[in-house]
Parts: sequence; structure tokens; C-alpha cells
Amino acid sequence: MAVVVIVGAQWGDEGKGKVVDLYTEHADVVARFGGGPNAGHTLVVDGNKLVTHLIPSGVLRAGKKCVLGDGMVVDPQTLLEEIAGIKSRGYLVDDGDLLIGERAHVILPYHRRIDQIRESRAGAIGTTKRGIGPAYEAKVARRGIRMADLLRPDRLRALVAQNLDEVNPYLERLGGEAFQADIIVDEALRHGESLRRYIADASRFVHDSIRRGQSVLFEGAQGALLDVDHGTYPFVTSSSTLAGGACTGLGIGPTSIHVVIGITKAYATRVGGGPFPTELDGTEGERLRDAGAEFGSTTGRPRRCGWLDIPGLRLAVRINGMAGLALTKLDVLKAIRPIKMCVAYRLGGKLLDEIPQDPADLAHAEPVFETLDGWSEDIRDVRDLDDLPPGARRYLARIEDLLGVPLYLVSVGPSRAETIVLKNPFRAERTE
Ligand code: IMP
Repeated sequence: MAVVVIVGAQWGDEGKGKVVDLYTEHADVVARFGGGPNAGHTLVVDGNKLVTHLIPSGVLRAGKKCVLGDGMVVDPQTLLEEIAGIKSRGYLVDDGDLLIGERAHVILPYHRRIDQIRESRAGAIGTTKRGIGPAYEAKVARRGIRMADLLRPDRLRALVAQNLDEVNPYLERLGGEAFQADIIVDEALRHGESLRRYIADASRFVHDSIRRGQSVLFEGAQGALLDVDHGTYPFVTSSSTLAGGACTGLGIGPTSIHVVIGITKAYATRVGGGPFPTELDGTEGERLRDAGAEFGSTTGRPRRCGWLDIPGLRLAVRINGMAGLALTKLDVLKAIRPIKMCVAYRLGGKLLDEIPQDPADLAHAEPVFETLDGWSEDIRDVRDLDDLPPGARRYLARIEDLLGVPLYLVSVGPSRAETIVLKNPFRAERTE
């Protein structure tokens, strides 16, 4: 039995969907702990592409319990559409396989509208416009509406009225349309009824599963550099994306966790605004974007592409306590020669080993690059590290060397089979 946390080590979109799907083979329970429909996991199974936003990637394996933890913000409409889409493809046959935390907060139409209006004004940061920030704001301001409230009409009515009292004048001031409480409440109650069978005490369920000796996978969303506390603030999301967020988001003590694994792409990408010092402009960036099909799975936005940022990964390894990394999309770097890798930052005459978190420092920091030869061979059929071209092996060895943690897995293509497995976190020793 093992309790494993998998988190993004960059700015999200590291390929968590595929890695979590692979590791789910060893897990009985897969639980998400933060974020909401801003996430998008692209899964390829038997040649079919499936994108999920809220439901953990574990849903593709029958009998695995999938949990939406209390730290998440859930858009009921999106969730119901997702459930219908997954069921129509033959997955999630047993409703008992999905649990939604009763304390997870609900994204309501006014949260989405506030997010959208803000994004059309000065100060926009390039959010996914899914209402994530406003829903978390309401939660922290103790005005939020939680999944269990969708099952209690009187309480829901009172809460929505209280919220609209503040939200409507705010929306009107920003040039947006006000909302009618009845319409919101009626729709939310309908959604609540449709979701009733899934709403439960997720924290207790996960805890009991661990006590029964089951293996549990905590699935992060977004990435370390988008963490609200430790990321590149203010260009971050509104939740805790780090391994610690698994504890708060699921109500599980840190002593239950055995191992934390980070996921990184073989290069770097970012969607939305904010500094990205290793970004490649022009044709070089376009080449990487085309080769890696780097378009957002939630918004379809082209992702900004750049060289691997080792100081960013160092920060991610440290603040997550990562035992190792799963590296994805190595195949994309084929024929990109030479390859550069940022190994440090220079700021005010000093050499920094971690990416600076202050926005002004990050804007002025100069990446220090190392250049590697790369390789030209197709590697999608490789299943053993020793069969990789020497240029690819050197690239991986350098990453391990610079970060001081081992690679657990290297992905060389989108399908399950296109993977070099090096270590299994479900058999790893407990990290002290
Ligand atoms: P929000 O989470 O929609 O509020 O967006 C805040 C920032 O996080 C923006 O820069 C988004 O592009 C980014 N972001 C949110 N979710 C994801 C994700 O799943 N992948 C990559 N970036 C994300």
C-alpha cells in the first residue's frame, strides 16, 4: 500500500493526465485536491482522445474510486457535462466510483462573469475565465456556497441572496449585467439533485481507504509555479497547487503521504500572462509549439514555449519535497538541435540557483544557458533508457544531475505504451 502525490513542477500542462492514468493502475483511489475546471487533462486511450477538467484521470480504469476533494472549486454544469461525456464512452459505469466532497466550493454563473469582466480590463492576467478566482475569493471571505448547500434549498436561497447583494452592484459598476437570485437558485438546485448521489464526506472516505491499506494517488492540478503562495505571484492561480495542498484540500495529515513525484515536460510552456524568461519567440518557439501540439486543453490558447528551466524545477522540487520526477514529451525535442537548458539565473551580479519569485526580480533575471547537442532519431519506440540515442541520454542525465533527484519515468509519446518506466513510486520507500 502507498499514498503518492503527483504534482506539476512547472506552470501546468506538464502531461499529468497521462502519468496519473499510468500510475492509477497501482492505486485504488485517485483524488484531486485543488483547482477546478481551469485544469484540462488530455488522455489518449486506444487511440481515442478524452479531455477531463474536473474528474481525476483515474476514471478511465473501472473500479477505481475517483474523488473531487473539498479544496476544489466545482462548476456543477461542467461536471454534469463531463460525467455524461465519460459515461457515453463506456466509462464510469458504477456511480459509486465517483465522490464529490460535500465541502468543495461551487462555481456559480456570477463567478464566471466576474472573472470574464476582469479579464477584459486592465490588470488581466490571462486566466482561464472559468470563475476560479472569484469562487476562491468567496470561500476565503466566508461567503462561499458548498456542494452540500446545493441539497439544502433554504440555506442556498439565503446564501445566494446574500452574495448577489454584493455582487450585483459590483457587476453593474464594471459594466456587467446583474443576476436574478431565483434563476441561479433554481438551476443550482437542479444541478444538486443530479449530483446528489455523488456528494459525500470525501475526507473521511480517503482517510478510511488509507486505513484499510488501500493505495491512494493524490492528483495535483496546474503546477508549482502557479501556486498562490509560492508561485510567480500575481500571475498564478488561486489555489495551493503543491503537495501540501493535498493535505489541506483533502483533510489528510501530512504523515499519511509516502512519496511526492513531480511532473515536468522536457521543455517549458506557459499559458496566460506573466514572466517566462526561457521563452522562445518567433520561429523557434513555433517549432516547439507545433512539434508538441502545445495548445491549451481547456481554452485552446496557444501555449508559450521555451527551454527547460532548471532553477524553476529546483524550486518545485524543494517546496514540494519531491522524491523524483516524471519527464514527459521527450520525443518532441527530436531534431531540435542544439538544445538549450537554463541552469541558473543572473540577477544584479549574483548567480541564483532557484527561479526568483518576486515579479520584478523575475522580470530582470537573466537566464544562464547550457547547450547540449540533442539528437535526430525518432524515440517513440524506445522502452529502455539504454536504447535512447546518446544525445537524449545525456540530456536526461544532466537534468538528474542538476536537480539531485532521479527520474521515475520518461514519456516518449502520448499513448500509455510510449513510456520508459524507471522507478515505481508505489513501491518506493517512505520518504522521511
Ligand atoms: P485561473 O486559474 O483560471 O484563475 O488562471 C490563473 C493563471 O493560471 C492563468 O495564467 C492560467 O493560464 C493559469 N492556469 C490555470 N489553470 C491552468 C492549467 O491547468 N494549466 C496551465 N495553466 C493554467
